[in-house]
Amino acid sequence: MSRALLGVRPAPVEVPPAVRALTGWAVVTPVWRNELGGLTFRLDEPGRALRRARYLKWVPRGSACPDPAAEGDRLHWAGPHAAVPRVLYQGLRPEGAYLVTEAIDATSAIEQHWVARREHAARVIGAGLRFLHDSLPVDGCPFDWSAASRAAALPARVRRRLPPAPEPDLLVVCHGDATVPNTLLRDDGTFAAHVDVGELGVADRWADIAVTTRSVTRRYGPGLEDVVLEAYGVGPDPLRTAYYRRLWDAVETWRLGRVRSAG
Ligand SMILES: Nc1ncnc2c1ncn2[C@@H]1O[C@H](COP(=O)(O)OP(=O)(O)OP(=O)(O)O)[C@@H](O)[C@H]1O
Ligand SMILES: [Mg+2]
Repeated sequence: MSRALLGVRPAPVEVPPAVRALTGWAVVTPVWRNELGGLTFRLDEPGRALRRARYLKWVPRGSACPDPAAEGDRLHWAGPHAAVPRVLYQGLRPEGAYLVTEAIDATSAIEQHWVARREHAARVIGAGLRFLHDSLPVDGCPFDWSAASRAAALPARVRRRLPPAPEPDLLVVCHGDATVPNTLLRDDGTFAAHVDVGELGVADRWADIAVTTRSVTRRYGPGLEDVVLEAYGVGPDPLRTAYYRRLWDAVETWRLGRVRSAG
């Protein structure tokens, strides 16, 4: 099964010299480029059979991507409770910041073999999200992803256009980017883990669910949102779904605008 070049097409990715310098003798395979310029590489060391593969996430200096150090902190906190990658090391160079995690032996739900089994994958994505929400303790979680804090981070002119946030249905520790590519499945088709938890924090569960269902439609095509909801164990909530999608879009549009104006 393919475990490389997931999201780097159509333009090839050059491995930045700073990443080369960090990775020594490892074989460096570009895996993912996000919309904000962040890069993920898989690192393999074929000569050291016992050494597990690693993933290096690279955020160039000045990028609007969430800080990998914030993701490292969240992985450390969530690790004892939930299925997330183990942090190996993280750091800062003049050219950017990085986070290295141990590879999880699984593939992203965005891979073609899961797209071909989209109904099954949608069910695993819904159940995996519920598992995450049930596993992470709200009490003692030091991270906040509430609608209020996310809206407060936006410029006033953008914030003013948002409708008032609905009352929370249920506060949980949300993933923060619970999309199809960030859910990993084992080869036997079971849920393996979540990656990309740089924004994990306490929020209404619909902040995640609204984004997950929309991602399933975008990545797999229509007709599967009810499958995700059923696997999660909740009925539809059109008001909260609409609000959290709108908030998501406001934040993303603002971040992308910052990238364009910087470039
Ligand atoms: N530890 C890991 N084990 C297995 N696969 C991983 C690991 N870390 C990252 N990946 C793979 O690399 C991809 C990109 O990583 P990640 O989602 O953290 O990057 P990102 O740039 O923040 O993504 P996004 O575009 O969703 O913001 C993941 O979708 C997953 O397929
Ligand atoms: Mg991701």
